[in-house]
Amino acid sequence: MGSSAVPVLIGLILLHIHKISECQTIEVTPDPSTNVIFSKKPGQGLDCTVCKNEDSSQSCDSSLRLTESKTTSVSFNCSQPGDVFTVEINQDIDCSSSACSSIAVHPDATRFLEFSRSFTWDVKVHSSKMFHLDFPAPGMRQIKPSESCPDQHTYSITSYQRTGPISIGSFCRNGTISRIQVWYRGRISLEVPKGTPLNPSDFRVSIGPASTGLVEVDVKLPRAESSVDFFTPNYGTGYYNAYKVKWNFAVEPIVNFTVEFKAYAPPECQKKEVTVDYALGEKTSFTTKPTDIQPNNKQGDFSLTLNNCDAKSTPKVPGLSMHIMVGVFRGGIPYLCTVDLQNEEGLSLEIVNTNPQSYCEMRSNSVVQEKIVVPVGSKVDLYFLDCPAQDLRLTATKTIDFSGVSARSVSRTPLIIPPMKWSLPVALNEFSWLLRVPDQTTLDLTSAQRNLHQSVPDKPCKEKVSLLVSESLGSSIGQFCSPADGAIQKIQIRGNVSITVSPNTVKDLSQETDPFLNITLSPEITENVIYTVSPLISGPAYLASPYWPDAMQPSSSASWIINVPPEYRANLWFTNVSKPTCDSGHAELEISPLDSSAETQEWREDQSFPDSIVQQTSFYLNMSNCEPASGRYALLTKIIVQKESKKILAIILAVVGAVLALLIVALVVVCVIRKKHKPSGNRSSIYIPKGKPVLPGNATFPKSRTDNESHVYASIDETIYNRHLDTNHPADSNNGTWTNGHQVDTYRPFLGPTDSIPTDQDLPDGYSLDRGRDKDVFQPFLTPPNTFNLPRPRSPLISQGSLGFEDRRMVDNELNTFKAAGDINPIRLSTDECKLRPQMDSDSDSYHEPEYEEAM
Ligand SMILES: *[C@@H]1O[C@H](CO)[C@@H](O)[C@H](O)[C@H]1NC(C)=O
Ligand SMILES: *[C@@H]1O[C@H](CO)[C@@H](O)[C@H](O)[C@H]1NC(C)=O
Ligand SMILES: *[C@@H]1O[C@H](CO)[C@@H](O)[C@H](O)[C@H]1NC(C)=O
Ligand SMILES: *[C@@H]1O[C@H](CO)[C@@H](O)[C@H](O)[C@H]1NC(C)=O
Ligand SMILES: *[C@@H]1O[C@H](CO)[C@@H](O)[C@H](O)[C@H]1NC(C)=O
Ligand SMILES: *[C@@H]1O[C@H](CO)[C@@H](O)[C@H](O)[C@H]1NC(C)=O
Ligand SMILES: *[C@@H]1O[C@H](CO)[C@@H](O)[C@H](O)[C@H]1NC(C)=O
Repeated sequence: MGSSAVPVLIGLILLHIHKISECQTIEVTPDPSTNVIFSKKPGQGLDCTVCKNEDSSQSCDSSLRLTESKTTSVSFNCSQPGDVFTVEINQDIDCSSSACSSIAVHPDATRFLEFSRSFTWDVKVHSSKMFHLDFPAPGMRQIKPSESCPDQHTYSITSYQRTGPISIGSFCRNGTISRIQVWYRGRISLEVPKGTPLNPSDFRVSIGPASTGLVEVDVKLPRAESSVDFFTPNYGTGYYNAYKVKWNFAVEPIVNFTVEFKAYAPPECQKKEVTVDYALGEKTSFTTKPTDIQPNNKQGDFSLTLNNCDAKSTPKVPGLSMHIMVGVFRGGIPYLCTVDLQNEEGLSLEIVNTNPQSYCEMRSNSVVQEKIVVPVGSKVDLYFLDCPAQDLRLTATKTIDFSGVSARSVSRTPLIIPPMKWSLPVALNEFSWLLRVPDQTTLDLTSAQRNLHQSVPDKPCKEKVSLLVSESLGSSIGQFCSPADGAIQKIQIRGNVSITVSPNTVKDLSQETDPFLNITLSPEITENVIYTVSPLISGPAYLASPYWPDAMQPSSSASWIINVPPEYRANLWFTNVSKPTCDSGHAELEISPLDSSAETQEWREDQSFPDSIVQQTSFYLNMSNCEPASGRYALLTKIIVQKESKKILAIILAVVGAVLALLIVALVVVCVIRKKHKPSGNRSSIYIPKGKPVLPGNATFPKSRTDNESHVYASIDETIYNRHLDTNHPADSNNGTWTNGHQVDTYRPFLGPTDSIPTDQDLPDGYSLDRGRDKDVFQPFLTPPNTFNLPRPRSPLISQGSLGFEDRRMVDNELNTFKAAGDINPIRLSTDECKLRPQMDSDSDSYHEPEYEEAM
């Protein structure tokens, strides 16, 4: 039996109890290799017997031993056999001939509940070996033989040596002993009183190493300050043989131990003497006598071996008996401090140990705590033992109640981390402000140093600290980094706000004496949150909707006031959009210029949002959520501002325009010259000055247009010119200045000074000029009338801009200048005036030239 690693189950003993008149009959089927023994308790009367009923015969006695694995009917001729009999369930585990490496033993819970039960295991190994008993956590604890266990499950171990049985000791569950090794043969018994259900403890039996002594006990000493008791074999009466008894102690690194012998009863030694061998760690070992002072205040694992002498064994002389006490206490030196918050308004502290593996012990007013909380206004004594600073986490919270405060008194009030006057053994890891504001109030948070930027995956916080801003204590609206070269200048939040600072590049927040935020109380806003943002010229700015990447709250709104610097434009990308389906209402996204007169762009959740948008001026970006049926409304926006390329474009256009203007001049010149060469009654009324075309300013045209006949002027159809002379032509209704809403490129030659200025008399015959119209059609080049007298020529680039723009004042001025005198003599004007000179051109201002328009 016991020759395999198969668990042996003692409990599978069938049991039926029948009540037959005064008698109790039970059916018992012992497991294989299990004996069931009923025996009378000592001192009980003989008026009750146990009977084995076989076939028709019945044999009764004061005890009954059932060894066969078959069902047997057992009866008692008294009604309460449990008062008279005990039952022992005995199992043999023989490991002497085979490798029974591990046997789990599970006594069954409720068998023979009305009897006192004794579960016994007889273990046998080869006489040179020991057997192991491994106890599951929390292990066993040794008690004096006279004591019993609080849970009514008392274990005892007896060793059977050739010299006779020796009691190794009595043990209860829940202790420091993890393993007991016993030499050669032994019995483990578990006594459970009647009526107590068996609570099985699955200790394991296995074959152990070669014998080192009578018994060897492995102990894991606790971390907490305590004292553990051990008793020598046959405690009380003592033992006589020169056996070794060994205890191996595993000691936590942070505790010191002390060994003390009590109740030492020395034997009468015949040979040798009683000694105690210690081995401390790997290297140190020494020997003491039981009467010496034992190791005191030591650290590390150790073993204690008690060597008995060959003692005189006579009944009157006691053997060796001793009570061994091993005390453990914390070896570290505690850190003590007092935290007084009585004068720190609204401030509370919390300290937690983040490493459950550590040996850290914290006490608040002498009470051991897992987490220390120092409430507002209190004063506590703190105690820290073996708590590495990096394992501790200190968070402080300050509640500031503005409800009784006038809003005006809170303006740009800096939020400062109050100095931590208590030398706590831990850095300040987090500081929170809970800001309570009166109803109908908004809290404005402005960055006190530089700006903020919002932490998003594309641009996480690398700045000194992160600021977690929340509407209440729940999840945060967003995480902001400070002090940053960021875009966010101000955050306005309606109602109570909590702000939590956590360090990024700094270690200890208590060293930060400068404010990160200034707060101002202002009147209530309609949005839940308003951000004031000035995007950086140097790089992208990221703006996330409140609670991003989580959903904006239902029916909430947020607004960003985005300031675009002058001469810049903002490019917006909606890089991460999540839209809900709405239960009621609509989730909206709006973009409107700050100048509210301009148009608002608006999208709803059921429309697709643009990927990107360009804004030339400062604008609002507003989001409002609906009551979502499903999905979430969340938006991540990236903004890059860029210098407007308008000016460069304008310059390019101007140059092109000037060149074109010159081309036109040359073209017209050529055409007119041709006209002159080929007289006709349909003369084109174009004044062609004789001078060479000259670009005002320093620019010169490489080739004189008049000299250059290579231009394709012939392609201009004369009817185009003449057509405009027909006053009935629809184009005239535009007054010759604008067509189809476009500026007409009225012909404006840039001509240098000419020898003469044409007079009215010089007008060609065919020039059927309507006087009234003349006024209208006259097109000055100069926008402000007084530039007429500009000493320097205007840049053609600028003239280009005024091409065809009709300035009434100028028209009149010009006409007066040139016509009031009637006969105007040649007047020398500056080069600019040349533009004015060809007043004969006035016919050509109604000169709609689609071809030129196209060319422009
Ligand atoms: C039980 O039987 C024994 C012997 O047969 C007898 O001596 C004893 O009195 C009986 N007890 C009772 C309670 O009947
Ligand atoms: C074990 O013993 C300790 C004290 O010795 C006690 O606090 C603990 O509750 C016990 N555990 C069990 C499971 O009985
Ligand atoms: C614990 O033991 C170590 C080493 O023996 C010693 O340095 C230390 O002072 C002891 N601790 C206490 C609290 O006595
Ligand atoms: C924040 O407040 C401090 C002190 O009142 C002030 O010196 C600082 O200029 C303020 N910063 C801003 C950005 O308002
Ligand atoms: C702010 O918090 C206080 C206290 O918790 C509460 O009484 C008050 O109503 C809150 N104010 C707002 C606007 O929610
Ligand atoms: C956007 O929000 C601002 C407040 O920040 C508000 O003044 C503006 O009228 C809103 N624009 C639109 C189109 O709702
Ligand atoms: C949008 O943001 C969420 C949350 O960070 C992320 O899981 C998701 O991959 C992002 N989507 C895109 C398209 O970047």
